[in-house]
Amino acid sequence: MQPKIKIAASILAANPVRLEEEIRKVEIAGADLIHIDVMDGHFVPNITMGPFIVKGIRRITKVPLDIHLMIEQPERYVNDFADAAGKGDLITFHIEATKTPGEVISLIKNAGLKASVSLNPDTQAELVADLLDSVDMVLVMSVNPGFAGQRFIPEVLPKIARLRSIAPDRLDIEVDGGITTETIAQAVQKGANVIVAASAIFKSDDPCRAINTLRQMAVQAVKEECHNRVDA
Ligand code: DX5
Ligand code: ZN
Repeated sequence: MQPKIKIAASILAANPVRLEEEIRKVEIAGADLIHIDVMDGHFVPNITMGPFIVKGIRRITKVPLDIHLMIEQPERYVNDFADAAGKGDLITFHIEATKTPGEVISLIKNAGLKASVSLNPDTQAELVADLLDSVDMVLVMSVNPGFAGQRFIPEVLPKIARLRSIAPDRLDIEVDGGITTETIAQAVQKGANVIVAASAIFKSDDPCRAINTLRQMAVQAVKEECHNRVDA
């Protein structure tokens, strides 16, 4: 049984000079999380937002923040992001980016935030197996991190299933990259319950409808997967 479906709207595809308006739209549309992609130009070949923007966003919305750190040595910056965000918000770091994942998790949790660990498409589930009891979520990248608007990599699906099979029941599994109405059901059926979407929401003419459609498709996929298991 996987935890409740949540939709995380990634502002990477939002209009950056109208961020407040864009966030307001997805808040009204019922986004469960605002996903903020932080890139440092080292871990990924792109540079985006830092704590300053996170702090600004924290002031204008009540929706929990889902801060996705795609940065080398996250242990150097998690406190800055934790200060900019609020208690109960979530910080995700990449397992490939640090030699001390336990320290990063402690720093995040000691600051009163939720902790999550992410894996790139080529990284094996086993690399985070020891951490699953101490995090709130695991994020499976379904594109190589760096940019919005890429194609979903279906080879990550068995990894989602593997993580769901070894994770405690309470653990959220987030999938990030290339999520559309074509790809969402597969990810959910393998066990993902937190769904990130940037282009599918912010590049659509109607973000409200986009969020509702993604949610309905995810809920339907959960029901079908349940029937499959009951009938098996
Ligand atoms: C990619 C980011 C994703 C990205 C998703 O490195 O981590 O969150 O914004 O964009 P879409 O949904 O367009 O693939
Ligand atoms: Zn992301």
